[in-house]
Amino acid sequence: MNRGLFITFEGIDGCGKSTQFQMLKEYLESKGVNFLVVREPGGTVIGEKIREILLNKKNDSMRPLTELLLFEAARAQITEEVIRPALEKGTCVLCDRFFDSTYAYQGYARKLGAEKVLMLNDLATAGLEPDITFLIDIPVSVALERRGIRGEADDRMEALGTAFQEDVRKGYLEAAEKFSRIKVIDGKDEPSVVFEKVKKYYEEYK
Ligand code: TYD
Repeated sequence: MNRGLFITFEGIDGCGKSTQFQMLKEYLESKGVNFLVVREPGGTVIGEKIREILLNKKNDSMRPLTELLLFEAARAQITEEVIRPALEKGTCVLCDRFFDSTYAYQGYARKLGAEKVLMLNDLATAGLEPDITFLIDIPVSVALERRGIRGEADDRMEALGTAFQEDVRKGYLEAAEKFSRIKVIDGKDEPSVVFEKVKKYYEEYK
């Protein structure tokens, strides 16, 4: 049996990634594709506990290295417990964020360095990589406006401010230059226009 397709979505906070994720989910449903959706950090009982530690704004004394290792710990758990078994059964897995988030947020924006992050990403996933990654790219100013309209409460990561988000965006674009599986999609357009591009890549790749 063929391994299932592993698809991940990435982008800065407020980029519209969740909308695209939902649209691809509905598209796969309409096509009768067997798939599973997960998110990072979280997606397992242990991972959700780690998520709470990572995103709780009260944990403002957390050191960058602690943060990196906790994201990787949650990832190790979900990869072994959920993602790899599903792929091996031939199920397509859609993941809302995966290790490119760590490249952009911890490696680039937290300045822990690409080399360290790539090594830990590989350790946490035992070499498992997405087949295709959609990077929904928008300027930080547009993302901030959208988040303002939604009026959502910030979590610890979202609370880090504009300069941090600018760095995250740069980190993502750097990753996209290194890894051809990352497809950069302009997220400024209407969701349906953005989704046409997502769908096109999916159809080409599947
Ligand atoms: P979440 O509410 O899941 O964000 P979103 O809805 O934007 O996907 O929060 C996850 C936050 O954690 C988000 O700000 C990105 C950050 N993050 C990292 O910093 N490193 C990582 O490896 C991952 C997976 C997420």
